[in-house]
Amino acid sequence: MADNKDQSSKKPATQAVTGGRRKQWTGAVVNPPVWRASTHLYDSVADLRAGLSANEDGRFFYGRRGSPTQWSLAAALTEMEPGAAGTMLYPSGVSAIACAMLAVLKPGDEILLTDNSYDPSRSYADAFLKRMGITARYYDPMIGSDISSQFTDRTKAILLESPGSLTFEIQDVPAICAAAKQAGIVTLLDNTWATSRFFPAIENGVDISIVAATKYIVGHSDVMMGAATTHDKYWTRLRRTAQQLGQVVSPDDAYLAARGLRTLEVRLKQHEQSALEVAHWLKARPEVGKVLHPALPDCPGHDIWKRDFIGSSGLFSFQLTDGDEQSRTAFIDALTLFGIGYSWGGFESLALPVDPGKHRTATEWAMKGALVRLHIGLEDPDDLIADLAKGFEQFNRIAS
Ligand SMILES: Cc1ncc(COP(=O)(O)O)c(C=O)c1O
Repeated sequence: MADNKDQSSKKPATQAVTGGRRKQWTGAVVNPPVWRASTHLYDSVADLRAGLSANEDGRFFYGRRGSPTQWSLAAALTEMEPGAAGTMLYPSGVSAIACAMLAVLKPGDEILLTDNSYDPSRSYADAFLKRMGITARYYDPMIGSDISSQFTDRTKAILLESPGSLTFEIQDVPAICAAAKQAGIVTLLDNTWATSRFFPAIENGVDISIVAATKYIVGHSDVMMGAATTHDKYWTRLRRTAQQLGQVVSPDDAYLAARGLRTLEVRLKQHEQSALEVAHWLKARPEVGKVLHPALPDCPGHDIWKRDFIGSSGLFSFQLTDGDEQSRTAFIDALTLFGIGYSWGGFESLALPVDPGKHRTATEWAMKGALVRLHIGLEDPDDLIADLAKGFEQFNRIAS
């Protein structure tokens, strides 16, 4: 097999299969083996000294800078993001978000966060960054190019999340990033829902694209990992900060994530198809009001989704119009194929009660009734729909 360094001309499915599989890392086998190591041995003192001066990818140094197992995964993620210079891996999605913010902020700065940000991103900004002397302010996710009205001399970064992982607003990422660029402000996007496959973030103007690889990259609900991918301007800073903070993922986890990545294309397409089938079925139910799925017109920013995205994944929410805590609980407890639990992006379906109003400060969440978030896994959608129908039977028993 030839070295797969030039991936840019390949289609996404081919990139996912071949990315990072360089012969110098894989040897004679298909997958890069698990290089479990702290110490890397040098041939001579001169060789050791040379290692100190070069801080490059793909060069042995010490376990904290990774080994071919991690380099291969990072290279594959970079190759799948057009315009990217490199990817850092982190032990969770939250640590990717936290370290990326630290890479671009300093005491006295201000960061603007979208009001639908993942809750731990908010608490990191409100508590940790505040202690560092960095101010966090929140903005309406649908603000678009008006974001510039929020800028002050201290604004140095903007966190976007599109769609939000509870309420699914699609942001006008190109407009926000264009305004930011003009003002010299760095943009960071939580791109976990779409991944670079359905939303090539850097091409759309984002500076640092972050995913909780825990979700669709790993795809099997058995590994925690985060990744941040960026272009030339921020690559050295992102990389140095991660190294200074001692961020490293285990080679075993990197191996599993790379294994998940190989099937990303077929998994995402199936998640998309099944989620759309379930979402349309829900939309026709009398108990359901809005279905907050970016590919459906109910979802704020649906037109932007049509303009900018290549596809939709398996996570969305829906409104039980007359639902309250008790009837929503009865609905979810009656489900047998949907697990009750945090996270998403694995092969299995999940259901979660969500209450986004609790987390908002810049906007009000006025939707009445109760909201349920579903992750549609790889089961047959007919079985999932039958399971949801059982949920509605219980819901109606309580609600009537
Ligand atoms: C949108 C989003 N971003 C980031 C994360 C954090 O990822 P992790 O759980 O790997 O820290 C999550 C986790 O649920 C998420 O939903």
